[in-house]
Amino acid sequence: MSNTRGLEGVVATTSSVSSIIDDVLTYQGYQIDDLANYSSFEEVVYLLWNSKLPNKAELEEFSTNLIKNMTVPNEIFDYMKLYPIADVHPMAALRTAISQLGLYDHEANEVDADTAKRIALRLQAKIATIVTGFARIRNGKEPVEPKEGLSFAANFLYMLNGEEPKDTEIDAINKALVLHADHELNASTFTARVCVATLSDFYSGITSAIGALKGPLHGGANERVMAMLSEIGEVSNVDEYIQKMFDKKEKIMGFGHRVYKSGDPRAKHLRDMSYKLTNITGETKWYDISVAVEEKVTKEKGLPPNVDFYSASVYHSLGIDHDLFTPIFAVSRVSGWNAHILEQYADNRLIRPRAEYVGPNTQKYIPLNDRD
Ligand code: ACO
Repeated sequence: MSNTRGLEGVVATTSSVSSIIDDVLTYQGYQIDDLANYSSFEEVVYLLWNSKLPNKAELEEFSTNLIKNMTVPNEIFDYMKLYPIADVHPMAALRTAISQLGLYDHEANEVDADTAKRIALRLQAKIATIVTGFARIRNGKEPVEPKEGLSFAANFLYMLNGEEPKDTEIDAINKALVLHADHELNASTFTARVCVATLSDFYSGITSAIGALKGPLHGGANERVMAMLSEIGEVSNVDEYIQKMFDKKEKIMGFGHRVYKSGDPRAKHLRDMSYKLTNITGETKWYDISVAVEEKVTKEKGLPPNVDFYSASVYHSLGIDHDLFTPIFAVSRVSGWNAHILEQYADNRLIRPRAEYVGPNTQKYIPLNDRD
């Protein structure tokens, strides 16, 4: 059997959207640290789709267009009200709603470059409205319409909570969106590319990607990190709790990475935000427990935290329901999925690898009536 289980180390395509070289992450050649410190999410989305940072006029036009496209057809929310809501995870709701959204886009089946870019914009804009709309509907509230004049990050929080957010909250969500926007050929992005390489439509590609992101080995880890922190409860319990996980050979959510070996460059930004936000809320224990877990896992297993680890205490500090953590990841990552789908359409070839056959050798067929 070859040593390519999980396609580790396999280069499956070329891409100019983002790169991870020697543990440094760049979007279109721009370092993630600069983008996280100085960019709005809208700038990053523009960068990923246009291979250049926008000037002021371009950003203004792009941002206005994005917010204008946030409204979703009422049918999406009407249908959500029919979901068996108590049992529906928001990622499953999102997967269904994005697929349904395609039914209301009269250009959904077009794959030419201009139309594909318009669809990308609509998806980016509407995904925030869908995630927040579902979060409200399941609590018996009506969805909130997006507000022109607010940024994408501010609109997300506004549509979620029904009131205009504070600057610190907007900054935190904006930075989290920037940090999660793209990540080379991660599992969900690869899924999107495989799907649309059959020349299937944009909505199919994004629906497939949401399905892949949902899993706990990928985007679903952030929700599980918070479940772990809650179970630990106090800093004094960290050592015993994590040791038990080691002994049972259980994976510690939010640690390890297929590509990064010396650490995920996004984690430190989220760690800083976690410190800041937990000090604002006064619930510093979530940061303290996280740091104690990091110290033990790094020291004893040599595994550094990934993007999902500190994002958990960040979102918790913003008062966000824990099962919305992964949908927020999707709200950001759809920008990267869109960029990769545009890139795939622009120079498409069917993605069809081979499997090394390890089944039985040629067998003699025995008719049904003659089998034991
Ligand atoms: N906790 C404990 N041990 C771990 C962890 C972890 N989080 N991650 C890796 N290891 C160990 C494995 O048990 C394995 O040990 P072994 O060789 O003794 O059997 C070794 O490190 C290699 O692990 P793999 O699972 O083979 O590494 P892989 O590259 O396939 O997986 C992954 C990477 C999925 C991220 C893994 O580290 C993991 O499961 N982490 C926890 C889930 C998580 O945080 N996912 C989010 C990743 S970031 C993102 O997708 C946004």
